Amino acid sequence: MEIAFFSTRKYDRQFFEQVNKDFDFELTFFEAHLNENTISLALDFEVICIFVNDRLSDDLIQKLSQGKTKIIALRCAGFNNVDLKSATEHNMKVVRVPAYSPNAVAEHVLAMLLTLYRYTHKAYNRVKEGNFSLVGMTGKEIFGKTVGIIGMGKIGKITANIFKGFGCRVLVSDPKLSSSDKHQTFEYVDNSTVFKEADIISLHCPLNEDTKYLVNEKTLKIMKDGVTIINTSRGGLINTMDVYKALKSGKVAFLGIDVYEEEEKLFFEDLSTEIIMDDLFMRLTTFPNVLITGHQGFFTERALENIATTTLQNIDDIQRSGSSSNEVTVD
Ligand code: NAI
Repeated sequence: MEIAFFSTRKYDRQFFEQVNKDFDFELTFFEAHLNENTISLALDFEVICIFVNDRLSDDLIQKLSQGKTKIIALRCAGFNNVDLKSATEHNMKVVRVPAYSPNAVAEHVLAMLLTLYRYTHKAYNRVKEGNFSLVGMTGKEIFGKTVGIIGMGKIGKITANIFKGFGCRVLVSDPKLSSSDKHQTFEYVDNSTVFKEADIISLHCPLNEDTKYLVNEKTLKIMKDGVTIINTSRGGLINTMDVYKALKSGKVAFLGIDVYEEEEKLFFEDLSTEIIMDDLFMRLTTFPNVLITGHQGFFTERALENIATTTLQNIDDIQRSGSSSNEVTVD
């Protein structure tokens, strides 16, 4: 079976080629995103493997259906970038990697927060220049803070436990939790209570119609003055312009984002010799209390190996039995 990989980088090739020794698929790697300009590259392949910023709209799936493609293998957890209804209508199976290393993302939340609270990004540059002044770097402690976790799934759970270890009061909001999922360690509340009471809000829910712009002008108003927001989930959970204004007014004291609503034009590319046209993004990079990373929460050796193994196993399962436990359907 031939698989076409889109949006690939050196590290994807390295891990997939290694893991493929156990599967023996034919692998073709394209650096390009899958979009209307590159869809023709996909038509000859039974399987296409895509990543977070490849968008498979109904239009593109219709074009894809004129070729050989029968399996769309997402090498990521989120699947909001694929029109599932259209894929089903065109008899294409969609599989994903539900968890490759939730610890990686949870630990990245803390990496971002500790950087912001202790100005290690500033200290690194100052020390390199022989500037040992501490002015402007008065830190904050995580201990004793009230942390709000929105979305208590795989990543949210690990993050909540880490914060507990730091000595925080942890509020959890997730509409889908049953009573058996709830532990005394945490306080189970709704989103608006998180917004009202948390000093630190960490987003771990998926992006969908209900959660789009969860953080917006209205919800920011009810948050504590000086709130910290960390988003490692999906860019669209935050209305970036509203948060930008809240940063300027001081309502938001710190912002850590590993995801950005317009990230597909930026992330995973080396744009260091180009002029970046996204003024809002560039303005945010000038704020001392904002830390942006380019969707690297997942990016650890363990995660890359898990992604490659699960993706190829998903394809193998469909090929052998017609189904996979990691299939995503409209329901
Ligand atoms: P999961 O599916 O295990 O958990 C998501 C949780 O959010 C579920 O328990 C669900 O009930 C809850 N939820 C749904 N709607 C909600 C709402 N309105 N309010 C509060 N909770 C709600 O997902 P997982 O694996 O924990 O991933 C979480 C997010 O992290 C996903 O959006 C995923 O796209 C993102 N992610 C980011 C990565 C990165 O590198 N930055 C890597 C992997 C995932």
